[in-house]
Amino acid sequence: MHRAPLPYGRGSATELSRDRQGAAYSGAALQSVGFGHPSAMSNVIVLGAQWGDEGKGKIVDLFSDRFDFVARYQGGHNAGHTVQVGERKFVLKLIPSGVMHPHVRVVIGNGVVVDPQALLDEIEMVEKMGVDVQKQVAVSNRCHIIFPFHRLIEKVSESRADRVAIGTTSRGIGPCYEDKIGRRGIRMADLLDPQIFDTLYGYLADDKRILANAFHKGDALNLEEARDQYHHMAEKIRPLVCDTAKLLNDAIAAGKRVMFEGAQGTMLDVDHGTYPFVTSSSAAAGGACTGTGVAPTKIHGIIGVSKAYITRVGGGPFPSEDVGPDGHHIREAGHEYGSVTGRPRRCGWFDAPLLRYTAMVNGFDTLIVTKLDVLDDLEKLKVCTGYRLNGQPVEAMPATNALLAQVQPVYETLPGWCVPTAGTTRWDDLPARARDYLAFLEEKTGVEIGCVSTGPERMETIVRQGSKLERLLEL
Ligand code: GDP
Ligand code: IMO
Ligand code: MG
Repeated sequence: MHRAPLPYGRGSATELSRDRQGAAYSGAALQSVGFGHPSAMSNVIVLGAQWGDEGKGKIVDLFSDRFDFVARYQGGHNAGHTVQVGERKFVLKLIPSGVMHPHVRVVIGNGVVVDPQALLDEIEMVEKMGVDVQKQVAVSNRCHIIFPFHRLIEKVSESRADRVAIGTTSRGIGPCYEDKIGRRGIRMADLLDPQIFDTLYGYLADDKRILANAFHKGDALNLEEARDQYHHMAEKIRPLVCDTAKLLNDAIAAGKRVMFEGAQGTMLDVDHGTYPFVTSSSAAAGGACTGTGVAPTKIHGIIGVSKAYITRVGGGPFPSEDVGPDGHHIREAGHEYGSVTGRPRRCGWFDAPLLRYTAMVNGFDTLIVTKLDVLDDLEKLKVCTGYRLNGQPVEAMPATNALLAQVQPVYETLPGWCVPTAGTTRWDDLPARARDYLAFLEEKTGVEIGCVSTGPERMETIVRQGSKLERLLEL
């Protein structure tokens, strides 16, 4: 395993450290919190604490240096995880963001839905960058397969006049998961057996033909052509496919370290997010176990990633959205345009009640705050510290989007720092007001901030000395 020094500077502050319940403790106390033998705390989940695009790709790429495996557990090519190494910037959709480290084996777990064409395109992209795909990439034999008719069904459903569009990525993700849960789906192992595939595809295609005819879209299906293409693509993917649950569990038993990479964010989780304006998978921490076949007892830390503000793509309630000049400024300064669809992201202020909720359902040990630099030029920064409904404080995250759309955000305003933080690598080099802002976020969320990102590149990162994150990752 690699143990080279990581390419960022460290801060020295431990005064802000808090435990998960929000109680302050000193740096000395922090040092005394024992995690046991290092190899007994080696597997962690890194996931989005908001509505996606928190900068997971950068963080997973940066810290996967410390791991032997990086495993994706849900979602599909609706994800867009940006990794920037020097001048080179690329967006990973299916392949985990650790792939740029030659010693890291990356795994597409059983919880992921795979469009074979999207996977082959991405393989071609990373091969051009020098990745040894045969050696590094493993794909679960239990992944469900996305077909062209899934995209067509999604298009029909999203464009129905009598429905509020979710604003999906149009990748066929939802309809594929529908077939999975409906027990009609086709898995990677089925695709690799031509006879089984033809039989299952025949059943599924019949279902879709009936549906398409009902919507007068039957002509658009091309079911036979797609079947032949899938046979062809299966042969290209075959060498990468294995029982990844066994691969990961054997590796863990042999003392190897696994990082689990979430896609989307907790507020897009099908159970815990802003349903129905969510994706169709379990983006929250629990999904890491069902989506890879690794037991909860084998996972030792959960790391949330959040922007210093918040964004969302697609429809649905967004209490702290700013549709005025500040929201516009954040969008332009943060290049907040979707990495998959190019859509402008909706922008707003850091939402502490939302973060408290995602910390609760995930059990965050620590939080990584990204894109602090995007706030550099703003003179005043608002933070949503609570919600009110009909004049009363809202204690729990509303379950319906109708209610969430009605809540009134309660804001506190902090002074901006108005000096550049972009590229800062040491905590002590941050302006005092930026440190105060981060301390405020810690206080209002009750989660320790272990790392701050000040730019898209690996180097542009601050790790808090003495933090739980540092101990968790053995930095
Ligand atoms: P993901 O889906 O969570 O991996 O995030 P995306 O890649 O979709 O979006 C995050 C965007 O912010 C990407 O363009 C990153 O290169 C960029 N980014 C990540 N961290 C920082 C940061 O600290 N500062 C700035 N300015 N950009 C960042
Ligand atoms: P990463 O992993 C942000 C959103 C879509 C839409 C909803 C459902 O890059 O953070 P879907 O196509 O999944 O059925 O769309 O979820 N969405 C994302 N938003 N980041 C993502 O991924 C997203 N993946 C899906 O915009 O609102
Ligand atoms: Mg993204």
